[in-house]
Amino acid sequence: MKTLDAAIIHKAADSLARRMLSPYAKTPPEELVFERGPHGKPFLPGFPGLHFNISHSGCYIACAVAPVPVGIDVQMIALPKNDVAGRYFTTREQQYIAQGDNFALRFCRVWTMKESYLKRTGQGLSIPLDSFDVLEQPQGLFREIMLDGAICQICCDPATNPQFEIETFYR
Ligand SMILES: CC(C)(COP(=O)(O)OP(=O)(O)OC[C@H]1O[C@@H](n2cnc3c(N)ncnc32)[C@H](O)[C@@H]1OP(=O)(O)O)[C@@H](O)C(=O)NCCC(=O)NCCS
Repeated sequence: MKTLDAAIIHKAADSLARRMLSPYAKTPPEELVFERGPHGKPFLPGFPGLHFNISHSGCYIACAVAPVPVGIDVQMIALPKNDVAGRYFTTREQQYIAQGDNFALRFCRVWTMKESYLKRTGQGLSIPLDSFDVLEQPQGLFREIMLDGAICQICCDPATNPQFEIETFYR
């Protein structure tokens, strides 16, 4: 069962997506009907050229909309609780986060890149996180947005300019 907080955040993110998609779908926000793909990614049936994705973390909710598949991931910047990088990152990604200072930011940068990459295709965690290297992807595939205490990545075809909104959510 969802906690009250999780339910409220889910509703707020859903409302944000509806508000952003409504003008493109030429449908009132409350009349949009979402379905979910095989791994849980929500989509709008009947609008093959209209893609979106939602993320929430801490006090932030984020949504991206694009004419091609798009993934978005927002994370509060914090140190990993255990050896997530050792278990899930490629050797090159591990080397990147270990160099220089601000380990937490570097870790969260790679993590959000990986999540947004998987969320773009909708595969989620059905493919191993260390089976692809986000630092070896084409230039422009990721767009990074720095927030107060958080980081957000949008993963989308470099030739496309996704629309995005990030809202601060006070519990
Ligand atoms: C579900 C998943 C796609 C993203 O999870 P997440 O990063 O925890 O959560 P986010 O807030 O970024 O995204 C959740 C939203 O993504 C969307 N979503 C769900 N499944 C999805 C999928 N397969 N592909 C794309 N988007 C998906 C939904 O809109 C969901 O919102 P909802 O729960 O309100 O319906 C998946 O990658 C996952 O389970 N990740 C685990 C994260 C983890 O282990 N983190 C550890 C950090 S150290």
